[in-house]
Amino acid sequence: MSGLTATLLNISAQAASAATSAAPAEQPYKIEEQGVWLPQGSSTFAEAYDSAWNINIWISIIFFVIVIGPGAYFAFKYKRKSETEKTSPIDHNLTIEIIWTLVPTLVLFYMFWVGFKSYANIQVAPNEAMEVRLTGQMYNWTFEYPNGVVTTDLYVPKGRPVKLVMSSKDVIHSFWVPEFRVKQDVVPGLYTTMWFEATRETTTTVECAEYCGDGHSKMLTRVYVFEEKKFDEYYANDFDDPSNPVPPAVRGKRKYEALCASCHSLDGSRIQGPTFQGIWGRKELLTDGSEVTVDANYIKSSIVNPQGQLVQGYPPTMPAFSYLKEKDIDGIIAFLKEQK
Ligand code: CUA
Repeated sequence: MSGLTATLLNISAQAASAATSAAPAEQPYKIEEQGVWLPQGSSTFAEAYDSAWNINIWISIIFFVIVIGPGAYFAFKYKRKSETEKTSPIDHNLTIEIIWTLVPTLVLFYMFWVGFKSYANIQVAPNEAMEVRLTGQMYNWTFEYPNGVVTTDLYVPKGRPVKLVMSSKDVIHSFWVPEFRVKQDVVPGLYTTMWFEATRETTTTVECAEYCGDGHSKMLTRVYVFEEKKFDEYYANDFDDPSNPVPPAVRGKRKYEALCASCHSLDGSRIQGPTFQGIWGRKELLTDGSEVTVDANYIKSSIVNPQGQLVQGYPPTMPAFSYLKEKDIDGIIAFLKEQK
């Protein structure tokens, strides 16, 4: 199943970025595989979680064979041969009944204990964990760090615990990082938390695991796990690569993919909002009957106050992205200028 998910993710990500060259941050959404059942384990939870998974799957397989095997055999062996054939009287057998009640009960307690141990550990974050505030909304994630930096990808240090304090702006989402073996609902009007500690440098994918609307399957983002020193450098530089400044249009493209792509297409097709194909300089008819030419000012005002000048025929559903930095908005403007 994980292999299929990873393949599908790769296909959709490649389709989305087929037109551009692959800078480091533009790699496809990926989840690394490890064997048949589970993706690569990249957090401290993986070992206990995977062993609980293996114990459960093997106990299930063994008991399936023990129960269904003889059941199928007896169904053939003792099938009624004629209309008049009568079953011989069968009495109960106390020893067998005690055994087949007691053994599965003990096995069930053991399975519960194995699962509960790692569940309890996953529920309680260590005190020294770095707290990141996560907000889910249709259809993207944002992360706010202790220093006030807001990102649309998640950056975490390897070997340091990270705690997410999560809430939703609209409907119920579910924050799922398969490689970390963590998944938690993100709910409007309620804070939920989860924590993890990454164990290897990697780039992996967050999926939304609760159906939340049209854009649910595109509610993806990346998790970057950096060595502590590299993490600290990035952290001090708003998570831009300190050694490789990003041109505005590339920055804008990243923001587009993270924030806008689930509602605004680049190829002329209609999703929730107007397409960005040929957006620059286009004349749009607004809900108040007036006309506007799309320029830098209109784009900026649509980002920070989307319902201010709404294009006719589209629902007023876009959230305000007022937390975006000036250079991110400039980047989006530069990117949209290129959409012919
Ligand atoms: Cu958010 Cu599904």
